Amino acid sequence: MKFKGSDNYVATQDLMLAVNAAITLKRPLLVKGEPGTGKTMLAEEVAESLGLPLLQWHIKSTTKAQQGLYEYDAVSRLRDSQLKDVDGGERVKDIQNYIVKGVLWQAFTADQPVALLIDEIDKADIEFPNDLLREIDRMEFYCYETRELIRAKHRPVVFITSNNEKELPDAFLRRCFFHYIKFPDAETMKSIVAVHFPGLKQELLTSAMKTFYDVRNLPGLKKKPSTSELLDWLKLLVAEDIPIEALQSKDDKVAVPPLVGALLKNEQDVTLFEKLVFMQRNNR
Ligand SMILES: Nc1ncnc2c1ncn2[C@@H]1O[C@H](COP(=O)(O)OP(=O)(O)OP(=O)(O)O)[C@@H](O)[C@H]1O
Ligand SMILES: [Mg+2]
Repeated sequence: MKFKGSDNYVATQDLMLAVNAAITLKRPLLVKGEPGTGKTMLAEEVAESLGLPLLQWHIKSTTKAQQGLYEYDAVSRLRDSQLKDVDGGERVKDIQNYIVKGVLWQAFTADQPVALLIDEIDKADIEFPNDLLREIDRMEFYCYETRELIRAKHRPVVFITSNNEKELPDAFLRRCFFHYIKFPDAETMKSIVAVHFPGLKQELLTSAMKTFYDVRNLPGLKKKPSTSELLDWLKLLVAEDIPIEALQSKDDKVAVPPLVGALLKNEQDVTLFEKLVFMQRNNR
């Protein structure tokens, strides 16, 4: 199993190396990076290109580790026990019928190797990663209700993404292979755009990329626009048929780009940008 990139996803050499290292080490790949740099998509693409079904677990602030293993649905069982006519009372006798399998259970018991994405692990509380140490390490857990040990038939290829909202515990980090997706340089970004807009006019692309990197490199921005924002913006530029002249500032003056709302996502950043444009104009 070797990941060599895919037609829909531009993977840099070091990213491919990291994916393959994690597979070789049989450890989860912990991917960090700015929002919109393709962390979630990486898991989808690796799974697709290795021909593995992908099981996804999207973490929220309320998610508990146990939900990924299994949950015992006591409420349904109680209801069924009161309604005598469910399977003539047979169903309620077997506790197995009330165990709701989580993603890890499904991944461990799948007949073929699968890929497993634990998306945005930093959204959960601090105990969450610690609660999964053994499961991730030994690939097994115990179901107390049915008294069975669930052990992985095939070790899943695990991807874990984080936006760095919380620090992850050291014991958890030890068990992962780590990769930080750096913000793409201009060349890589051009390839990414080419994947999404194969027929885009070179001229428009060059002007749009220049404006994009100008905006991104503005010191003091609260939220820098990332890959997905550039793609959104390009989509709008094409859809609205914005002329290239609107992007190219005459005599090197900076102008507020059209549809800037696709790139800047809060009023302070827009104001900062407008101020800069205003200052540059006055300097002439
Ligand atoms: N390397 C890439 N190749 C192709 N498309 C990419 C790449 N990186 C990002 N994209 C585009 O950016 C979009 C956002 O990617 P994705 O949702 O994977 O980001 P993310 O890092 O998971 O963001 P978040 O942290 O907000 O969840 C994707 O839908 C894809 O269109
Ligand atoms: Mg994501």
